[in-house]
Order: sequence, then C-alpha cells, then structure tokens
Amino acid sequence: MLQSVAEFVSQYSPQAGQQSLSSLALVAAAIFCIVNVLVSLVRKRKLAVKSVDGIPGPKGHWLKGHLDYARFDGGGLQFHEKCALEFKTCYRLWFGPLKPLVVLCHPETVKVIQSSNAPKEKLVYNLVRPFIGDGLVTSYGDKWFRMRRLLTPAFHFEILKPYVRVFQESTNVLLEKWSSQQSGEVELFHHVSLMTLDSVLKCALSYRTNCQTQKKQDPYIVTVYEASNQILNRLMNPLIHDDTIYKLTPDGRRFHKNCAFVHAKAVGIIKARRKALEDDEEMEKLRKKKHLDFLDILLEAKDENGSGLTDEEIVGEVVTFMFAGHDTTASVISWTLYNLARFPEHQKKCLEEIEEAFGNDDEMEWKQLGKLKYLLMCIKESCRLFAPVPIISRTLDRTYEIDGHSVPEGTWVMTNIYALHLNPHVWKDPKKFDPLRFTTENAKDMSPYAFIPFSAGPRNCIGQNFALMEVKLSVALIIRKFKLSVNRDCCVPIDDLIPELILRAKNGIKVNISPRT
Ligand code: HEM
Repeated sequence: MLQSVAEFVSQYSPQAGQQSLSSLALVAAAIFCIVNVLVSLVRKRKLAVKSVDGIPGPKGHWLKGHLDYARFDGGGLQFHEKCALEFKTCYRLWFGPLKPLVVLCHPETVKVIQSSNAPKEKLVYNLVRPFIGDGLVTSYGDKWFRMRRLLTPAFHFEILKPYVRVFQESTNVLLEKWSSQQSGEVELFHHVSLMTLDSVLKCALSYRTNCQTQKKQDPYIVTVYEASNQILNRLMNPLIHDDTIYKLTPDGRRFHKNCAFVHAKAVGIIKARRKALEDDEEMEKLRKKKHLDFLDILLEAKDENGSGLTDEEIVGEVVTFMFAGHDTTASVISWTLYNLARFPEHQKKCLEEIEEAFGNDDEMEWKQLGKLKYLLMCIKESCRLFAPVPIISRTLDRTYEIDGHSVPEGTWVMTNIYALHLNPHVWKDPKKFDPLRFTTENAKDMSPYAFIPFSAGPRNCIGQNFALMEVKLSVALIIRKFKLSVNRDCCVPIDDLIPELILRAKNGIKVNISPRT
C-alpha cells in the first residue's frame, strides 16, 4: 500500500516522491511505535488488574488512580481510616494506571505478610540506602540474616542497662533548659528530637556534643539532620526519585556530599577505635568505660566462621542506628507527653506511680523502670493512636493468599499500621485514649499482629527495647518535674498530622509546662 502511494506520487516528481516516501516511512514508524507502546501498556494494565483481581477498593480516577489520596497529610490518613472501616481487612489502590497496591489493615492480613520473609519495597529504601548503606534495614535474604545475627547481641539487656544513665543525662539537659524558661508553651518535637539525637550519638559512638544547648551546632549534627530531612523531602517529590535526575539537582549533589561527610566522620571514629583496641593501655581504659557503645560491640562481633564486619558495614550500621533510632523515639516521647497533657487523670496516675517507684532518688535504675506499668500502658496507647511509623511496605517474593485472594509475586503490599491501629473492626471505640486496653487481662486475647508500632515477625524492630527504655525514662523524668497541659486550641487536629517516615505534626506538638512545686 505504502509502495503504491509512493509510486503514484513519484510519477509526477521523482524528487518529491523520494521525500514523501521517507516522510511516510517516518509516520508509519511513529505509528508503529505508538501502537506498540499502547499494546504493551494495555498488556501491563491487564496484568496489573489481574494481579489484584477481586480485592475490593475505593473507586479511583481512571488515570491517576488514588494518587490524590497518597498525600502526606491528615487527609491521606483519614482516607485510609475510611477504607479500613469499609473494607475491614485489606483494600486495593492504584498508583497511576499501572501500579496497584494492596493495603493491609487487619491482624489476619497483616500476619500473612509480616510473618513472611518478603523483601522491603524498593522506593523508600532506595532513597535511604546512600545514607545508611546496604545494612540491616535495607538488606534481604542471607545477607540480612547474617547481619541480624551479628547485631542482635548489641541489643541484649545487659548491654542496654547502662544506657539508663546516658538517657538520664540527656533528659536532664532538656529539663534544665525548660526550667530556665519557667512556665509556658513548648513545642515538644524540636526539643525531644535533639535530646534523642544526643542520646543516640552517645550510645552509638560515645560521641558527646552540646547539641541540645549549643546555638551554633556541631557540623556533624547539622549534616545528619540535613541528610535525614533531604530523604524525607525527596520521598515527597516523585520528580526527583530517579537517582540520575536527583544527582543533577543542587539538592542531590548536596545530599551526596552530606552522606560522604557523615561516612568519613564515622570512618575516622572507627579507625581511631580500632587503633585504640590494639593498644593495651587504651584497651584497659575501654574495659573500665561505664558502658560499651554500639561501635565497641560491632567491632567485636564475629559470625560462626569467625569473620567480623567490614568497616563499610560498621559505618552503615552505626548510621542506621542513628537514623532509625532518633526521630522514631522522639515521635513516641512527644505523642505520649502530648496525650498525658490532654488527659490529666492519666498524667496523675503516672505521676503517682513514678513517685512510688523512684521516691526522691535522683538517679533512676534500670530495674525501677520495670515498675512503671501504668506509664507503659499510656505509652502503648499513644503508639496505637499515633503510630510512630505509620506505614511499612513489602514487594511480594512469591504468590501469597491474602484474605482468600491469590496475590502474585512482584505486587506491592503495604501494612498500614496507622489504619490497623484505628480499625473499628479490631478496636472498640478506636479514637478513645484508653490505656487500660493494655492491661494483662485485656490484652491476653489480642492478636500479636493487632498492635505493631515496632512491626512484627522476623523484620521487627531490633531497637525496640532500647527505644522503650528511653521513652519510659524520659517521660518519667519530665512528668516528675513538670505538669503538662494543653489549651483547647493547642490540640493537634488530624489535618495537621504528617505521615512521613515517622508521624509528625505540621505545626509541631505544643503543650504548656509548669514546674511542679
Ligand atoms: C520508638 C522508636 C522506634 C520505632 C517506633 C521503630 C519502629 C520500627 C519499625 C516499624 C520497623 C520495621 C520497618 C520495616 O519493616 O520497614 C523497624 C525496624 C528497625 N528498627 Fe526500629 N523503631 C524504633 C526505634 C529504633 C531504635 C532505637 C533503633 C536502633 C537503635 C532501631 C533500629 C531498627 C532497625 C535496625 C530496623 C530494621 C530491622 C530489620 O529489618 O531486621 N529502631 N523499626
């Protein structure tokens, strides 16, 4: 057909004929490509639809799907709450026309994935990897298993116990700061995250700073802070998710510089410590140290073949410890203090318990923390209402049966901890702050997958005992020293919540503090 058209045209002008022929060939090639792309898109769409066939979900836009509801704001969270109410166990969403997502919001469906070895979903972890390396959080399979075994001893109670003093020291700095301001309003997250960073630096590297009080911050702290924020900002801007594009932006270049700076600093500390371990006198000093830090443990760690971690692996884990262990803990402390400020009756009960456990002791001991049972229930209830890590994701490594649906390999599955913790099919009166849900009696029939602030299953949080110790101790010391309250207009509205990697509030978490007499 093309040929006969060309012949016809060439009868009148051979030159024009040749030109027309090549134009027509170009048009034909373009049409061919477009049709090919369309066919492959239709095929992809068909496969995608098939992969989540039968799983119910809310109606979405034909092209955008539910992208509008993937907002990192309170509107997005409310959308998931409504879905949990309507669909009960799990629901299907679309990220654009080609990427389906299965969201889990009930212990029965959460259990299927969290108890499995399905690897983490790539998007978030690819953004974090340049900062924390290919370590425990990001690795998978045998590599993850080896790392988890090597790191587990670092979180043994005997190692954690002496950290009580470190947490106490950092909390005392915060208390002194607040004491000098007397009464008034404070924004919790800012102060508390500096405090948890202070603690984690001391516990990870024995790195002591004045980060809580110094106006001009240590460059290391500034860089850790900036790099963490850059990851969050990037997460929220799909235009810079691609590595090549991001590296070309000024922000991307700065991020890579920040990562290099943090790594170089950690490598310097590691090298110095390795050298110290070779020197008998220094070794003796190390033995007499009040506590072994995370770095000491990692340098000593050996697998069954007697091989330890490389410097690169150690850097990755030390940075992970700081990244995973500071904002998360700050979120829990802040939301717990906020809830105790909102509900004075619970604050009073916690105070009575704290005074009974510690009397007038200045120093708190690890074993005394075990007596703070009511406080622990308030912490848990805060973690339920304000899930510190609201969302975690996996990519299926094989076909899984989820609530009677066969979901194939490669599907993106999200455990929505926020929606699970507020699912009315799981919790009675889910919006009510009721710490008594967690009494031994009330919790005895609770599924281990109903309340999972630290996730559950093999990839659960390795730092949970560390975190809970710090939360209990800091909240106890703060409540003992200050009475907390909120003004009516200080309550954080749901629209202000931002589910980034951790749950924050857009305008901060504000409470009034007044010293107890
Ligand atoms: C209250 C504070 C914390 C909360 C709510 C929390 C929550 C979590 C959650 C939900 C996960 C699972 C992530 C996923 O599956 O994608 C996790 C994993 C992890 N957390 Fe935490 N975390 C906290 C504190 C800490 C601390 C203090 C550390 C270290 C000192 C830490 C280190 C880790 C590591 C290394 C993993 C990965 C474990 C693995 O994959 O084997 N976390 N955390």
